[in-house]
Amino acid sequence: MERFVFFGGKGGVGKTTMSSAYGLKCARSGLETLIVSTDPAHSTADVFDQEFDDEPRPVQGIDNLSVMEIDPDEELERHLMETKRAMGDQVSPAMVNEIDRQIEMAHQTPGAYEAALFDRFIDVMRDADPYDRIVFDTSPTGGTLRLLSLPKFLHGWVERLLHKRQQSVKLFERAAIGNQEPRRMMEGDPIIARLQERKEMFEFANETLQEEAAFYLVVNPDQLSIRETRRAIDGLADHGLTVRGLAVNKLTPEPDDDENGRGGRFLRERVATERERLEELHGTFDPPVVAEIETRVREVKGSLLDEVAAELDVAV
Ligand SMILES: Nc1ncnc2c1ncn2[C@@H]1O[C@H](COP(=O)(O)OP(=O)(O)O)[C@@H](O)[C@H]1O
Ligand SMILES: [Mg+2]
Repeated sequence: MERFVFFGGKGGVGKTTMSSAYGLKCARSGLETLIVSTDPAHSTADVFDQEFDDEPRPVQGIDNLSVMEIDPDEELERHLMETKRAMGDQVSPAMVNEIDRQIEMAHQTPGAYEAALFDRFIDVMRDADPYDRIVFDTSPTGGTLRLLSLPKFLHGWVERLLHKRQQSVKLFERAAIGNQEPRRMMEGDPIIARLQERKEMFEFANETLQEEAAFYLVVNPDQLSIRETRRAIDGLADHGLTVRGLAVNKLTPEPDDDENGRGGRFLRERVATERERLEELHGTFDPPVVAEIETRVREVKGSLLDEVAAELDVAV
């Protein structure tokens, strides 16, 4: 299996549950594993009954497993401060306030959230050395899809900026020919250095997602979830990314044959409906179904998590 594994899907389908179960499975098989959660509701804390923060922390009582929770709001704030600082170093003091205002406005546009999160994902992928497996509990629908398209989009943009900046530095050098010292030099130019760094970072991300990442989608046996899954598969394909498998979660357990009360009848009819949905998933989707997991009486945690992990037909 690739080093980076993503579990996506709509809110509530079971991404956190599946990525926790898969992370546990990897850890139990001896792989040094990190689960990266981006859920502002901190649901990994519920699954493992332990508080986490934005640095990897070992899960108590489970060898080889660590969890980090990235808070998207905090990440956006941090991104904002870091961008202000980096730009502030490069402009005259008179410009700083104006630049700060521009940066704040840019951070309120749609996509800023994803951009900030994406930077953090890249950091995690770059510092992957201590881990054999990193499991991302995140959705490749909507915002995250835009996020995945960022490298390609920004690549061209940064190239053009870089070119312009190089030209402008050349002009400065030429203009300074009469002086003893040219006022600006290509070598060590801070803006070129920063653009170059961003470009390399996005190139790295693009390559890593294409070559070292596997994508799974969690789906519930209902029409809305199935439709959403189709869209997510197409969206990922638009970015050259293939979905490796579908984990069907929250299937209704079948009643025994002699249960003919209202509850029994309801369950039987519900199971019949879900069977049609399952057939659709098996018959009309390219990615294979890698798990069929029943709804448990309680939230999936503790020993239930091991049980679910065993039902997940995803290689470690
Ligand atoms: N198979 C299941 N049986 C019972 N509860 C489940 C199952 N899968 C998920 N849940 C519960 O459903 C809720 C949402 O699941 P979660 O994994 O947090 O979804 P997501 O991360 O996609 O929003 C959680 O309370 C979780 O414990
Ligand atoms: Mg979640």
